[in-house]
Amino acid sequence: MNIIRRRGWEVAERGVTPEHLVLNRRSLVAGATAMTILPPLAARADVPVNPAFQPGRAVTEEKYATTYNNYYEFSESKNLWREAQALKQRPWSIRLDGMLKQPRTIDIDDLLKQVSLEERIYRHRCVEAWAMTVPWTGFPVSQLLKIAEPLGSAKYVVFETTQDKVMPGLSAPFYPWPYVEGVTIDEAANDLAFISTGLYGKPLPPQNGGPIRLTLPWKYGFKSAKAIVKISFTDKRPTTFWESIGPSEYGFWANVNPAVAHPRWSQASERLLGSDERVPTQIFNGYAEQVAGLYSDRKNEKLFM
Ligand code: MTE
Repeated sequence: MNIIRRRGWEVAERGVTPEHLVLNRRSLVAGATAMTILPPLAARADVPVNPAFQPGRAVTEEKYATTYNNYYEFSESKNLWREAQALKQRPWSIRLDGMLKQPRTIDIDDLLKQVSLEERIYRHRCVEAWAMTVPWTGFPVSQLLKIAEPLGSAKYVVFETTQDKVMPGLSAPFYPWPYVEGVTIDEAANDLAFISTGLYGKPLPPQNGGPIRLTLPWKYGFKSAKAIVKISFTDKRPTTFWESIGPSEYGFWANVNPAVAHPRWSQASERLLGSDERVPTQIFNGYAEQVAGLYSDRKNEKLFM
């Protein structure tokens, strides 16, 4: 049973979901019934909204979340959404590898048949101090763990993302491609850790990491790897993409903390995409109640950069 408790900084639900989004979703459902054609399983309009995840902020308008992106395989600029349309979303398969019962390759649509999709509205905080609040469709990483069946000795889950010929940024020699991210098995099993396949009730756009990405709302956005093609299990902590480029600026843990400044800027506040309003940043991006316990035995590590 879900008990919804409103935290001090949360606002009422009517302030969270703009009317046009609700109406748009209703008309999508109505339209789908009339035409008896449903959008792909990745993000159907009839996927249930999980009411346990109240973001306490207005949802960012879709046009901002889908046109201001970080995706270095395409460009260092934020304006890459047109170029990203070239990334084919099907067929798409994911290699499950390393310390698990049976290494194998799984087709994304076969994977989607084995999980329960839901919609969650999460806050997303980039290390560059901009933020958005968006409705993701997807499933908890814990469901993926059940399907993958890692060995008891595995300690980390590593996500590797695609390298495709349509990505001009891959020819930049400076970057250590492929983009790799990782979390501990405990972090992956936390209920907040999510695999997204949809955004705003539609299939996840390529520029936001379609067809499948990680979404870790308590960590800086660079941990949320886009366009995943390989998920492996290991007992060794992986060196992640940004960590290998700038270990003093982008650490492995990367938990959001307003009190720990980036070496080149403050993390005390964030700019909301769309309104450009500046609001205070919350520890663990406001999700401390759900995740702080993951770190109680790791006080000596650099958890917040
Ligand atoms: N994943 C890949 N493969 N390549 C990237 O450059 N950028 C990261 C993350 N995932 C990135 C990535 C960063 S820095 C952020 S803030 C988020 O994606 C941005 O997600 P968004 O564009 O959907 O807002």
